[in-house]
Amino acid sequence: MVTSRAIIYSNYGDPLSEIKVHQYTISDPVDDEVLLQSVAAPINPSDLIQIAGIYPSRPPMDTSLGTKEPSAVAGNEGLFKIIKVGSKVKDFKIGDWCIPLHVNTGTWRTYSKTAEDQLIKIPKNYVSMAQATTVSVNGCTALQLLTTLTDVKPGEWVIQNGSNSVVGKFVIQIAKKMGIKTLNVVRNRPNIEELKKKLYDLGATKVITEDENTSPEFESTIKEWTKGSIIKLGLNCIGGDSATGVVSKVSPEGVFVTYGAMILGPVKIPIHKLTFENVKCVGYWVTENAKKDINGKIKSVHEALKLMHDGVIGDIDVEEKVVHLDNLTDEEFLQIYKNAFTDSKKLKQLVVYK
Ligand SMILES: NC(=O)c1ccc[n+]([C@@H]2O[C@H](COP(=O)([O-])OP(=O)(O)OC[C@H]3O[C@@H](n4cnc5c(N)ncnc54)[C@H](OP(=O)(O)O)[C@@H]3O)[C@@H](O)[C@H]2O)c1
Repeated sequence: MVTSRAIIYSNYGDPLSEIKVHQYTISDPVDDEVLLQSVAAPINPSDLIQIAGIYPSRPPMDTSLGTKEPSAVAGNEGLFKIIKVGSKVKDFKIGDWCIPLHVNTGTWRTYSKTAEDQLIKIPKNYVSMAQATTVSVNGCTALQLLTTLTDVKPGEWVIQNGSNSVVGKFVIQIAKKMGIKTLNVVRNRPNIEELKKKLYDLGATKVITEDENTSPEFESTIKEWTKGSIIKLGLNCIGGDSATGVVSKVSPEGVFVTYGAMILGPVKIPIHKLTFENVKCVGYWVTENAKKDINGKIKSVHEALKLMHDGVIGDIDVEEKVVHLDNLTDEEFLQIYKNAFTDSKKLKQLVVYK
């Protein structure tokens, strides 16, 4: 039996105000159950809009953990270590590492218990801790965006915004391996040359700012770069003018996909891209795809893990927030997550349990 601390919420709203800590006991695993100790969990934009109540996929709120009000445990990704196994567990042993097969399992807690078929095993030290925690959502997404929506051939281009995100950086690296050229849009900043260098080092073909993405004058420079080839795929995770800038550059018969909305507003598509150029505008959601084809998701996770292991996808730039499992207080635990929420605007945050 262990006592777990979980980051829970009972109402939808501002994540900083809504989260609280709940302690509950977990009995020893029986049959096919395994007891998990958290190793690390990232903060993703979707985790925060889920608590805000504006993300369509959510865990149910109930009182199964002994909370006074119906509540849900926050967090969708994480890396776990098996610390106890039930008598009928076949595929896991104590010490193994694993990630959840599905989202909405409530990963932001110190300990948890689940059935073994709800987990994907990660060979220990096969990839870094940060890579393991981000493979099932961001790794899978980057790979499927590049490989399942259209057949981009070597020498052809992909344009994306949000290129400094974890997904964006995965896209750059996987595209490079596939021989695909990338045109990467990032927000301007005082140290823009430093950021451009980082993305070029990852394998970006060209990096431009949002101002250049939305500038009609800059179009001729891009045409010069892409001369003799096509921009077959446009990836949008921002929305607003940034999305319009991206779709405007997609070649006739190409595909424009929206998979995120960092600016929570509509996407405007110039009419000629639809009528005269037949650019297909589609959406992508890893969660829904996994519901329809769980084996496809497992396959993508393993492919992304291999790309990480082989060094095609390098380690991820994260800021660690450390939870010391011994001597932890509820206040400290809560504050660690609140600090991680705030700092996630600067860099991907990884809460690490030691
Ligand atoms: N549909 C799916 O299945 C799926 C799966 C995974 C992720 N996603 C989406 O993919 C996106 C990236 O996720 P992630 O976990 O990789 O994110 P992340 O590493 O946390 O990075 C977020 C990125 O968003 C950019 N950003 C934030 N606000 C912005 C604004 N107002 N204008 C322009 N850029 C802005 C940031 O730019 P700076 O670098 O300039 O700070 C940063 O690069 C998110 O929208 C997420 O919801 C979707």
